[in-house]
Amino acid sequence: MVRKGSILVIDDEEIMREILDALLSREGYDVRLAAGAQQGLDLARSMPFDAAIVDMMMPGMDGISALDELKKIDDDLPVLMITAFASVENAIRAMKRGAFDYITKPFKNDEVLVVLRNALAQRRLVAENRALRQNLQAHQNKFGDIIGRSPRIKQVFDLIIQAAPSRTTILINGESGTGKELVARSLHQNSTRADRAFITVNSGNLPPDLLESNLFGHVKGAFTGAVYPKKGLFELADKGTIFFDEIGNIPLETQAKLLRVIQEREFMRLGGVETIKVDVRIIAATNVDLRKMMEEGRFREDLFYRLHVITVQLPALRERKEDVALLVQHFLDKYGTENQKPQIEVTPEALDMLMDYDWPGNVRELENVIERAVVLASGQRIDIDLVPDHVRSSKSFQMPQFVVPPEGISYREAETAFQRGLIESALEAAGGVQKRAAELLHIKPTTLNEMIKRHDIRPRRKRLAPAGGRPGAHVEAEDVNDDGEIVVDDVR
Ligand SMILES: Nc1ncnc2c1ncn2[C@@H]1O[C@H](COP(=O)(O)OP(=O)(O)OP(=O)(O)O)[C@@H](O)[C@H]1O
Ligand SMILES: [Mg+2]
Repeated sequence: MVRKGSILVIDDEEIMREILDALLSREGYDVRLAAGAQQGLDLARSMPFDAAIVDMMMPGMDGISALDELKKIDDDLPVLMITAFASVENAIRAMKRGAFDYITKPFKNDEVLVVLRNALAQRRLVAENRALRQNLQAHQNKFGDIIGRSPRIKQVFDLIIQAAPSRTTILINGESGTGKELVARSLHQNSTRADRAFITVNSGNLPPDLLESNLFGHVKGAFTGAVYPKKGLFELADKGTIFFDEIGNIPLETQAKLLRVIQEREFMRLGGVETIKVDVRIIAATNVDLRKMMEEGRFREDLFYRLHVITVQLPALRERKEDVALLVQHFLDKYGTENQKPQIEVTPEALDMLMDYDWPGNVRELENVIERAVVLASGQRIDIDLVPDHVRSSKSFQMPQFVVPPEGISYREAETAFQRGLIESALEAAGGVQKRAAELLHIKPTTLNEMIKRHDIRPRRKRLAPAGGRPGAHVEAEDVNDDGEIVVDDVR
């Protein structure tokens, strides 16, 4: 018979021990008998049990004290008390001290078996929960806040675990908002460098000189204004990790110097003559196609191949939609706590909409949508009215029904009207941000911008922040700015 579990029986009456032994063994349990509390405790210390049945009234140590001691040995052990009808009150006292249940004498066989089965089921549940919690904790330690269970994200976790311990340079590739920075941090956290610095270099927004003095430091007098010597980020990252965000933005001349550091692990401070050696792990991220940049001569080939040793390709959120619900829950927890709405939840209808959307801005966009909804929710529920319009209306693209009137129609005019309509809805879906609208239509922002001009699509009102202007000042303007960051409040 399949082993169902091991049961410890502690009872001073021999006849009771025999009855229970026969009953439980017949059911397939492993039974151990003890004629007193002390003997029972010795047994419990020497081997694991799945449950215990303890008589309340015993000479020497009574059932309640035995219960207390058993709990000290194994806190989760379910203990069933057996009591004479007259002393039920004591049994209730035992329940308060952590007994699983009690049975009054004389008992029916079935009664014992049912209570025992329940006890074992609960024990299994407790054990499973504990294992689950431990797994979750291990997972959280390993992967920080990277949420996901899809096969695509699991591949990323595997790669992190494999690649983290070495010093190999790693390139993280992925669309904006897919979690490149999170992955970079997690690589650091899972490496032996975890207790050293993790330094992020935002490659894009500095002129080359400044970027280089930031990276490599400078000696006193290296340039006007270099009154003191300064350590660079590479020195600060020694024994740790340096993370180049948007590596594609690094100017060509700085790329050459970076290559040298990667190859030689040494560099010189600006204006210096001394070579400085460092032990750093280099991680780079990009959301552009570096290979294409390389072909166009904008990214050094040698650096490209140096970086390309191990590439972590992060999936877009639309490629792992099965993770959307999990991420929604994660951000509900996060922003619910922040906004004192800990119980907040989304309705199934709203969740459907979130699952249907394509998330061009990936996890970051989803996070923003949830944060906004949590803040705006008046109660504890997020329904479809709190889902932004462009997410809501994106369900599917509907081609218009074309009906050619009997008198015919100008093909050119119809085509123009169609193009115009498409651009207007894309702009609306993108909240007026041209760059995003261009992404939605899979065209370049410059192309979209030309089309907007050609079709004379004009925003009614735009928010511009002119240089030196007051923040938030509203300016009416006719032409459309090329950078695509203008907010079009209302498109005709
Ligand atoms: N798998 C994920 N689980 C939980 N949060 C995530 C996940 N991926 C991204 N995020 C969150 O989304 C936001 C954007 O992530 P991150 O900055 O890492 O993206 P990125 O790829 O570096 O984007 P960008 O290219 O725009 O810099 C962050 O707030 C991050 O915490
Ligand atoms: Mg980033």
